[in-house]
Amino acid sequence: MYELIILGGGPAGYNAAERAAAGGLSTLVIEERALGGVCLNEGCIPTKTLLYSAKIFDYAKHSEDYGVKLPNASIDHAAVVARKDKVVKQLVGGIGMKMKHGGITVVNAHAEIQGRNGDVFTVKAGDETYEGRRLLICTGSSAAVPPIPGLREGVTSGFVKTNREILDMTTVPKELAVIGGGVIGMEMASYFNSIGSKVTVIEMMDHIGGPTDSEIAAILLKNYRKKGVNFMLGAKVTGVGTNSVTCEYEGKTVEVSADCVLCAVGRRANTAGIGLENINVLTERGAIVTNECGRTNIGGVWAAGDVNGKSMLAHTAYREGEAAVNDMIGKKDAVNYDAIPAVIYTNPEVASVGETSDTVKAKGLDAKVESFTLRYSGRYVAENEGGDGIVKIIIDKAHRRVLGVHMIGTYASEIIYGAAMMVEKQMRVEDVRNFVFPHPTVCEVIREGMFGI
Ligand code: NAI
Repeated sequence: MYELIILGGGPAGYNAAERAAAGGLSTLVIEERALGGVCLNEGCIPTKTLLYSAKIFDYAKHSEDYGVKLPNASIDHAAVVARKDKVVKQLVGGIGMKMKHGGITVVNAHAEIQGRNGDVFTVKAGDETYEGRRLLICTGSSAAVPPIPGLREGVTSGFVKTNREILDMTTVPKELAVIGGGVIGMEMASYFNSIGSKVTVIEMMDHIGGPTDSEIAAILLKNYRKKGVNFMLGAKVTGVGTNSVTCEYEGKTVEVSADCVLCAVGRRANTAGIGLENINVLTERGAIVTNECGRTNIGGVWAAGDVNGKSMLAHTAYREGEAAVNDMIGKKDAVNYDAIPAVIYTNPEVASVGETSDTVKAKGLDAKVESFTLRYSGRYVAENEGGDGIVKIIIDKAHRRVLGVHMIGTYASEIIYGAAMMVEKQMRVEDVRNFVFPHPTVCEVIREGMFGI
């Protein structure tokens, strides 16, 4: 009998397991694939490994702009993928060690909730059945494959890849068609563009980057058009063949030839086949309904991470897992979904937190929005020939509190946590002005911006 059974060993599950074990709960984690989940095995970490190699290659290609001559720089994609595998193996092993040191039992099998007997839940994993007083469901999400004619067949034949398969491909496609210009689409378009593929991004909206602030998304688009990526915005994919994608674009039927297609049109919560119906856990549009500390409609059952369909980010999953465990052990906790930073690891990077100029308009908030060029930063100018990065600051006019910060440019991914604290703690412009920022850094522009808003 365990105090807690966790279904899924991704960021929500493994982090919650550590917190639960530290809080004195005997904990079992059931994971059918590898510890670390999508993030570590086929998401955040492998893509960042690939993108780092591409960044080095890009620097090499443009080294003369910085007075360095590196003629004949080349990239070995298969070697990059091999290094990615090494990085993933090391980190997955690290989580295994953490589980071991935390006294957490890990079972490698598919988990299915069987039912409930009084206060005790039963979960089947492989040939074994386990009993637990509490359940935490962290089964994550999978790539959505919409019913576009030929798309599923393409996945079966290998012509169409999702985030999973594209990371293991050791050959470089000559022509890559990317369906979806969201986070995965843009990160992968960035990588394959850097290493020499002819990339076409087919996006049904009139902009890339999903909910990214529209001014920032436009700068990102401009950068990637300049790098040679072809964008078809407002395009409707109508079919996938064996060497092309067909779309309705600008009133015409257009065929995009490709030797590889990436399908990156969003993700779906993994709620099927895990026995939710056996204990009547409530789902809505395929995701488990939870409150701000992860409680489901069933007492003793919590859910965290992508499976609740709320934010689908690894760092949200960590926090949700923690909030759920705190709730289990009687510590008051709640996730603040208004202050979750988001990053797109393109080159330049995009990072955001809080309200955008679009959301303040939609909500009718009385807000002030100002953009500042990153060229105010000496370090940015020193390191970015021709860089056009900006930081955009959004405050509420009445209290001058920071509602949102959005950036495009170097180090944005590392800077945004400071802005997230400003939003989370509802800091006022004057509060931020009183902090001393290090010099010379790119983040200084945020402080300087506070004097201009
Ligand atoms: P997404 O929601 O970011 O983007 C999907 C895009 O596909 C949207 O722009 C949408 O308009 C478009 N789309 C949908 N159906 C389409 C169709 N039939 N034809 C053309 N375009 C279509 O989803 P994505 O990129 O698949 O990423 C999935 C999740 O993974 C997201 O929640 C994302 O936040 C997360 N993720 C986070 C990363 C990060 O934090 N850096 C990296 C990669 C993924």
